[in-house]
Amino acid sequence: MADNSSAGVAPGPAPWWSGAVGYEVYIRSFADSTGDGVGDLRGMEAHLDHIAWLGARIVWITPFMPSPGFDHGYDVSDYCDIDPAHGTLDDFRRLVDRAHELDLRVLVDLVPNHTSSAHPWFVDAISSIDSAHRDWYHWADPAPDGGPPNNWVSHFGGPAWTLDPTSGQYYCHLFLPEQPDLNWSNPAVVEAFDDILRFWCEAGADGFRIDVAHSLRKHPDLLDNPVVRTVDPDAGPTAVFESFSHDHDLDQDDNIEIFRRWRQVTEPYGAMLVGEVNVPTPERSARYTAPGALDTVFYLRPAWADWEPATLVAMLRTMHDADPNGVSWTMNSHDTSRSVSRFGGGDLGRRRSLAATAFEFALGGVPFLYQGEELGLVDATLDPGDRADPIWTRNAGGEAGRDGSRSAMPWTPGPANGFSSGTPWLAAAERPADETVAYQRGSTEAPLHAYRALIAARDAHGDLHAAPLEWIVLERDDAAAGRRGSCAFVANLGTEPLTVDLGCVHEVVFASAPEAVAADASVVTVAPESTAYFRRLS
Ligand code: NOJ
Repeated sequence: MADNSSAGVAPGPAPWWSGAVGYEVYIRSFADSTGDGVGDLRGMEAHLDHIAWLGARIVWITPFMPSPGFDHGYDVSDYCDIDPAHGTLDDFRRLVDRAHELDLRVLVDLVPNHTSSAHPWFVDAISSIDSAHRDWYHWADPAPDGGPPNNWVSHFGGPAWTLDPTSGQYYCHLFLPEQPDLNWSNPAVVEAFDDILRFWCEAGADGFRIDVAHSLRKHPDLLDNPVVRTVDPDAGPTAVFESFSHDHDLDQDDNIEIFRRWRQVTEPYGAMLVGEVNVPTPERSARYTAPGALDTVFYLRPAWADWEPATLVAMLRTMHDADPNGVSWTMNSHDTSRSVSRFGGGDLGRRRSLAATAFEFALGGVPFLYQGEELGLVDATLDPGDRADPIWTRNAGGEAGRDGSRSAMPWTPGPANGFSSGTPWLAAAERPADETVAYQRGSTEAPLHAYRALIAARDAHGDLHAAPLEWIVLERDDAAAGRRGSCAFVANLGTEPLTVDLGCVHEVVFASAPEAVAADASVVTVAPESTAYFRRLS
């Protein structure tokens, strides 16, 4: 476990990412330099100064490799090139150079669970049962009734198996049929990814965000998953997916072996490995940051959660305690409704989002912000006919999908909010002026300055994330407080003020709301739905 806070463990030299905050760029919607309505690397390069100014030191870019785009880049047809819609390899190198000048490191989003069905490996695999790449994917004969070989379902709806009529066999896809799952028990697949990792390290990448890292290995006997609840026949794909216990298609014990190998491959480059790991318990998650495996893993549950303070507090505490320095905390991503919308909308949602995010930022690891989170954005308003996420377009169940968080980054007031001189690929209502970067830079009351102050406080007071965390016992479950070396934090997500005796006099070094803290000697009172950081004075 990546734990540099446990007493008795001699810490090694701090890795370069220690103490850093990350920032996710959803490349399609960040900045378009060509006017075709799709974000690209040149556009992103021109806006890197925004990310650096905010104080983030790591930037994760969602996939930009050649892709037919059925899942907006997460269906890769060539792992070692750039999709022309996003630029060229030279653009990538330029972007990395500029990022490094700004003290930003770049993570490439690698998608190893599945390729595009247009990838030459799959084109070959499906061409014949004897093809060279047949065993690079999962093939199985039909069940006795002619249906899929087991009960696995796709995240995006329907069975996780599609019949290839030519061979009479099914192939496995935990996402779309256009995203066939690779067979990670085949050493040739493993070796191919060694080369892909080296390719991007040589091109200047500082590390990788690993897509669905918990999915790679499958049970060799392709056993049925246990059903844990029944759902309505017309339930959306997420509800159906969650009605199974994914014992045999996800989180197989030997997944870790793959990442130990990746560690060895990337060690000479000092690359950071961040896994997207969505598993049932914090303990299972922590396995992925065992020594020699991944550096951090994303903890996704907060990014799906509604505003239930006690649930959120318990979620964050238990995840921290299972893996004190191995978590990449998130409250938002391109896969979920924005937290401001989930937490009540408008100023209320903004207040709650910042309070909860500031709580996460006091829990070690490497937290990430998602583009636009720093502006306090709500989900975009889209006409149903304009929605593009396959969760919506491929299903009749009414699950809205992920488009609400994927609209264009609002840089300036006016047409396309300065994202593009053309028409954005995802049509959404224009954002008002006060939700743009340009406006918020000039308004010190704006969320942008609060998020910047949060990162600055974390940077200035390293104990806030690096010193061992000692929880302060509270009588409430909708709040949490802790001491970390010379610092302390109080996260009050409840609706009543919270008074905590910190034991000695402190100064406030960050408050998520202007009136968040009243202090009387060592006793501090933190306002409802607020988080504050403190530094010991006596
Ligand atoms: C997780 C990614 O974040 C999501 O956007 C994508 O659809 C799936 N993995 C499949 O690659």
